[in-house]
Amino acid sequence: MPLLLALLLSATAASPRGAVATGHPAASAAAAQVLREGGNAVDAAVAAAFALGVVEPQSSGIGGGGFALVYLAREDRVVALDFREVAPAGASATMFAGGAAGAGPSRSLDGGLAVAVPGAVKGYAELARRFGTRPLRRLVEPAARLAEQGAPVNLHYVRTARARLACLGARPEAARTFLDRGAGNAPVAPAPGWRLRQPELARTLRTLGRDPEAFYRGPLARRIARAARAEGGVLTEADLAAYRTRERTPLEGRYRGHRVVSMPLPSSGGSIVVGLLQALEHEDPRAGGYRPERFLHAMAEVEKRLFARRAVLGDAAFVPAAAQVERELVSPEGAARLAAAVGERAAVVDAPPPTQESSQTSHLSVVDREGNAVALTTTVNFSFGSCVVVPGTGILLNDEMDDFDAAPGAANVFGAVGTGANAPAPGKVPLSSMAPTLVFDRAGKLALVVGAAGGTTIPTTVAQVISHVVDDGMGLAEALAAPRIHHQWRPDALQVEPNGLEAATARALEARGHRLLWRERRWSNAHAARVAPEGWVEAASDPLLEGGAAVP
Ligand code: DON
Repeated sequence: MPLLLALLLSATAASPRGAVATGHPAASAAAAQVLREGGNAVDAAVAAAFALGVVEPQSSGIGGGGFALVYLAREDRVVALDFREVAPAGASATMFAGGAAGAGPSRSLDGGLAVAVPGAVKGYAELARRFGTRPLRRLVEPAARLAEQGAPVNLHYVRTARARLACLGARPEAARTFLDRGAGNAPVAPAPGWRLRQPELARTLRTLGRDPEAFYRGPLARRIARAARAEGGVLTEADLAAYRTRERTPLEGRYRGHRVVSMPLPSSGGSIVVGLLQALEHEDPRAGGYRPERFLHAMAEVEKRLFARRAVLGDAAFVPAAAQVERELVSPEGAARLAAAVGERAAVVDAPPPTQESSQTSHLSVVDREGNAVALTTTVNFSFGSCVVVPGTGILLNDEMDDFDAAPGAANVFGAVGTGANAPAPGKVPLSSMAPTLVFDRAGKLALVVGAAGGTTIPTTVAQVISHVVDDGMGLAEALAAPRIHHQWRPDALQVEPNGLEAATARALEARGHRLLWRERRWSNAHAARVAPEGWVEAASDPLLEGGAAVP
């Protein structure tokens, strides 16, 4: 019973004083400590985000960027902050043309050209300043200590380091920081338990705790730009100085009486979560039992159409038509049209480009004793980002440029295909799938805080977790552990996690014309917090990681 095993491995933590879930126990513990000392959910989220960048550098860090949804209980208001990376001024629509599909490392993934202007430090600092109660220098301290003292690496780190060995091993600063030494002193991926020490990063974090602007101006900015350019990039000090975060209007929809609030453009994640759930409202999620095949068929059919529409999305500041498409996707009329298009058979779309197994990116969900909450998803994009480490600083730079369309019709590392609306341009934000999400119950009270890592599988993961809680009455740990399915239009296949379908359901879906693509590994990880009807907060993390939930 693999599902049962997964359930045993994913524990729930509960407390009336708040709770937090992340993909790493050290980050969850840092956040819980902040809550214990009287910090609010935003203080806790910022401390956890900095700590995640230290202990899961393959997923996120100060060289990356992300999104946060903040729920301010007293004002009953949700704020969406976009601190995602933007393309440097030297970017152009054709900068990756011709190079993406061939053999060898891709320039949009490995090395300097892959680096977009990082936004994480500005984002975390702004969250703390506007909504937190603790000075930033206190909030970086748990992360700085973890970097200084070192933390044993887990299986997730080891697996991704192995997968990225060529990229990391080719760069001495990255190899020195993230890899062990094997025979003949050659860089090798470390074994689980190897201690990852980052004393230079500890120093950088403390500098930024005193003055976050130091990332964007002055000697540190100079070194960051120089490191990217030394590796073939175009990042300049002027790009760093020009970086600004953006406050967005959260995206809203409804699912069976619940209000669902998620991330708008430049993420496609929120519109896919909301669009999918609203279309699925036209189906019976429990017809004849748990996960009826008609419901899963409808899920796949709606997902493929949503992902086909995703192909025309991009940063609305550059592609105004994208905002119109987003509005259509989350409107009740759009949902009704999507639902009506679901027939009895799988609709045919075209041939599959390859996709990669990957579950990097950091998500954290936290609720404090006042009922404030943060859902924050942050990333360096593909495992270990660009593999470019800024010498002497411990800063690992992202490869978020790969989230742009290298060319119309070209797939990114997650198999996402665009029409060119998401082409690189100076100052443009690459289209994301990240979907930090809040769900409010029928009485309007905050019920669920959720988000995930996993590239294009993020929104379908988030929607399935919500459906498990709302439709199936699952507890958090069960909802997170349940294997998932995913259709992203291209490839034209219904992807299934290990143990994701019972044999009879799989056969029924095949009989409807679905090509099932059984994946060898779980592709996403989600972390969630929930306000129980009794008033306490529960949190749980995905069993894929050795993460954990923590309470103050
Ligand atoms: O923003 C995005 O959609 C991607 N950069 C997220 C990357 C991710 O989740 C990595 N793990 N699979």
